[in-house]
Order: sequence, then C-alpha cells, then structure tokens
Amino acid sequence: MKVMSASSDDSVQAAGDPDRADSSRLIVTIDGPAGTGKSSVARMVATRLSLTVLDTGAMYRAAALLTIRLSIDPKDGAEIAAAIGVHHIEMDFDVEPANVLLDGRDLGDEIRGSEVESIVSVVAAHPEVRTRLVAVQREIASLHSRLVTEGRDQGSVVFPDADARFFLTASSGVRAKRRVDQLRAMGRDVDPDAVLHGIEARDRIDTGRADGPLIQPDGAVEIETDSLTLDEVVDRIVEIVEATRDSGGGS
Ligand code: DC
Repeated sequence: MKVMSASSDDSVQAAGDPDRADSSRLIVTIDGPAGTGKSSVARMVATRLSLTVLDTGAMYRAAALLTIRLSIDPKDGAEIAAAIGVHHIEMDFDVEPANVLLDGRDLGDEIRGSEVESIVSVVAAHPEVRTRLVAVQREIASLHSRLVTEGRDQGSVVFPDADARFFLTASSGVRAKRRVDQLRAMGRDVDPDAVLHGIEARDRIDTGRADGPLIQPDGAVEIETDSLTLDEVVDRIVEIVEATRDSGGGS
C-alpha cells in the first residue's frame, strides 16, 4: 500500500473521523532528537503490538535528496514543495519495515549520507514542505489505523489525539556515540567530533523553527534513555500503551 505526496492536497481531508469508529485503532507517537533510538524503538514496539511503523524522518530525508538531485537551493521552500508535488515521495508498506520511495525507487542508504544530512534540517524547516508531508502522514494513518509513528512533531502537530505519545531524550554525547556506532556498522569512516557537531547543529535548527519544532508534546511521556537499553525503553512504552488501552483512555 502506497500513499503519495502528490495527492497530499486532497489527503488532508482523508484523515478524519472514519478512523475513530475503528475500535482496533491505535496510534502511538514517538518524538525526540536524533540519536535517541526512535527508529529502533518504534520497530520493536511495532513488532510487540502488531503496528505498522512510519519513519517520518525518512520522508524529510527523501525531500532533501530530491532537493539535491534537482539542484534546488535548500533555502527555497516553495520550489522544494512544488518539486514534492511533482516527484512522488511515498512509503512502501509492502516491505518490512516500510521504505521511502522517490518516484517509485527505493533510496537505500543514500538518504543517510552526509550530503542529505547536511541540508535535511533546512529543508524540513520550510512550512510549505511540512504541510505536504504532514498531509501524507495523516493519510497514511487513515489507511493504517494501527500505527507507531516517529519523528519530531508527531505527537505535537500531526497526531495530537494519538492514543499514546512519547518523547525520547538523551545527552548529546550519548546520542553522538550511538550515531557513530550506527555509521561504523554501515561501513562508514566517521569523525566522532563531526558527528557530534552535526547532531547539535541539526538539533538547533529542528528546535528553533517556527513550524512543527522539536518539542516535548503536552501530555507526552518523557523517557530519558541515556542509561536504558533498547529493550528497557521498549518495555516501558509497551507497558504504558497496554495500560492506556486497558483503561480505555488516550494521552
Ligand atoms: O529522524 P531523522 O534524523 O531521520 O530526521 C531527519 C531530519 O528530518 C531531521 O533534521 C529532523 C527532520 N524531521 C522533521 O523535521 N520532522 C519529522 N517529523 C521527522 C524528521
């Protein structure tokens, strides 16, 4: 099942009330800065609770890659948004975990490369770009009503009515070390200082932007992950989601 960015103008309407009638509906949001383990945690939570996973960072990374491929100025939000309307950014849920596709093609590791990393926060800060991708995210939720979605604004802006919302944190030193380990596992040659500076620079842009900034959503459960293993974070989230579901309430 694929949901494309080009249909995003119409799709805002699609993510409405019908889902509310679905008693199995379960939307879990996990936000936080880079390196807090959101992607791994989201995948493990998805397995435990039989949810679909949505990695919204991959969508912004695809938009950044599109910007590079079309030689658009990363500061030109209107042109990037127009390009997203023409070149489809979509999620392929036929594979596990879902992949982001650009014009039907899997982008592989290219969206994790340093070129994308150096501009993605600038691209993601444009309200025109966010409007398009948020619409796609809501449409995805209308089609996959059992969803764990991770990013920066999922609990604050995109799904403020989610059943459970989490905000993961960790010190920048720990986050940089995790990222270095991840890149080395991918066979990359990395400079730990450059990784730390990159993380801090992206944090500043993600936190400082006007539209959908990285913030702890009101009412979200904060989990400080510095001294927790992935399994411990996942256990905590699953326990809270199950308790919320059993009590019949949302966050
Ligand atoms: O989670 P990540 O590192 O793959 O995110 C890549 C970039 O996209 C990061 O700079 C923050 C941005 N992003 C965003 O602005 N909103 C989201 N919902 C997800 C990611």
